[in-house]
Amino acid sequence: MKRVTPTDQSSRAWGHAIALDEASTTPLFAQIAEALAADVRRGVLRPGDAIPGSRTLAEALGVHRNTVLAALRELEKQGWIRSERARGTFVSEALPELRARAPEVSRGDALFDVSRVHPDVATAVPPGSLPLLGGVPDVRLVPTEALARAYRRALRAPRLLGYGDPAGALVLRRALATMLAHTRGLAVEPDDVVVTRGSQMAIDLVARALLRPGDVVAVEALGYRPAWEALRASGATLVPVRVDRHGLDVARLAELAETAPLRAVYVTPHHQYPTTVVLGAPRRLALLELARRKRFAILEDDYDHELHYEGRPILPLASRAPRSVIYVGTLSKVLAPGLRLGWVIAPPPLREAIVAHRTYVDRQGDHVLEHAIAELAEDGELARHTLRMRRIYLARRDSFVSALREIFGDTLRFEVPRGGMALWAQARGVDVDAWAERAAKRGVYVQTARRFTFDRRPRAALRLGFGALDETELRRAIGMLAKAL
Ligand SMILES: Cc1ncc(COP(=O)(O)O)c(C=O)c1O
Repeated sequence: MKRVTPTDQSSRAWGHAIALDEASTTPLFAQIAEALAADVRRGVLRPGDAIPGSRTLAEALGVHRNTVLAALRELEKQGWIRSERARGTFVSEALPELRARAPEVSRGDALFDVSRVHPDVATAVPPGSLPLLGGVPDVRLVPTEALARAYRRALRAPRLLGYGDPAGALVLRRALATMLAHTRGLAVEPDDVVVTRGSQMAIDLVARALLRPGDVVAVEALGYRPAWEALRASGATLVPVRVDRHGLDVARLAELAETAPLRAVYVTPHHQYPTTVVLGAPRRLALLELARRKRFAILEDDYDHELHYEGRPILPLASRAPRSVIYVGTLSKVLAPGLRLGWVIAPPPLREAIVAHRTYVDRQGDHVLEHAIAELAEDGELARHTLRMRRIYLARRDSFVSALREIFGDTLRFEVPRGGMALWAQARGVDVDAWAERAAKRGVYVQTARRFTFDRRPRAALRLGFGALDETELRRAIGMLAKAL
């Protein structure tokens, strides 16, 4: 947490809340002095923090200013605070024993039991380093000027700062429905779309609305752990199903569906995460038929649909079976993950349940931002940006692939991904985790297979992203990766 320093005016501006006891026999000035000293002892006020001016304090506490001045004099006499002419009053920095007594809560002390969580923190990449991470777009290329102008225009409508529709601003739902119809063959109306903060929230809301404790959900393994954890948090029991070079092994899923009543399957058919392969047409049909026959839901995560470079467009499963497929998408890859804009399309009455859960979690999204993005979609800026990024990522993919082949030869074996911002490489005769650690020391970050295995066991494979860096940076990163080998 950022602490207030003597140059920071915010602590003064906030005042300082103290509870006074009118019925006490202790004089008010002594109560104020004792309360401030206690706040220093507890770490609420820290050495160097500014104490609000006596006039502000007196007003806030409803006492005469002289009472506050008497309290401050007492504190200064005892060494808790010091005043500086023309600058104000500060908590003394000469209270060294306080630092040792910072409030401590040990793990066993809390009154409540926290259910098991499976930490999966995103790889922290220090500034200036070279991330070869899978899902990370080059946010330097976001049309921020156009976005800022659109945001400013949206902000001029103060009603957008009030409470709005939890399903998202109508203008954005309309723009997304148009985009989804034209680019993905989805026959959706604006009222079918629920805008979420990224697809992660969409997956979480689906889990809350659809799953009961003990429900069995099949997942791809290798797969996307943050989605698994959202499903688990709603009480689902996950069953891993293997993936191969054609994506999810649907025959295995069919065997599983014979032995366990499946509630849902979570899939990334367009570019399987993390292996990037496209789920083949026969398997798509088999999966849809299986879901219909066994009456389970398909949760389709189409996180980077726009970034497909080769072959004819592949339409989502949802375009064929809108009643059994719950469709999740995001602007995180094609635009920027920090905007937190995604969506979910689900058949009623699931959609209504999702909106209800959204209301409990977050009430609504950022309607100002949603209006701004809708404007970029309506005037064609979003489509132009998407085309531009597709061209750029394709060029980066090709130069990345040829540099990897040139430098690593047979050590890294991979198929050229038909879309996305990453490739999946098998490493021969290398301990990939040790390699990744050494590379990180040199400032290059890669993700190894254990991040994506269901049992967290290592495997000799890596996911290498080429989206976030330009071609010169990619060459530099590969060179450093080679040195770390
Ligand atoms: C497979 C997959 N699904 C979903 C997401 C989540 O994206 P967001 O929550 O930013 O929309 C990601 C991001 O990396 C992803 O790789």
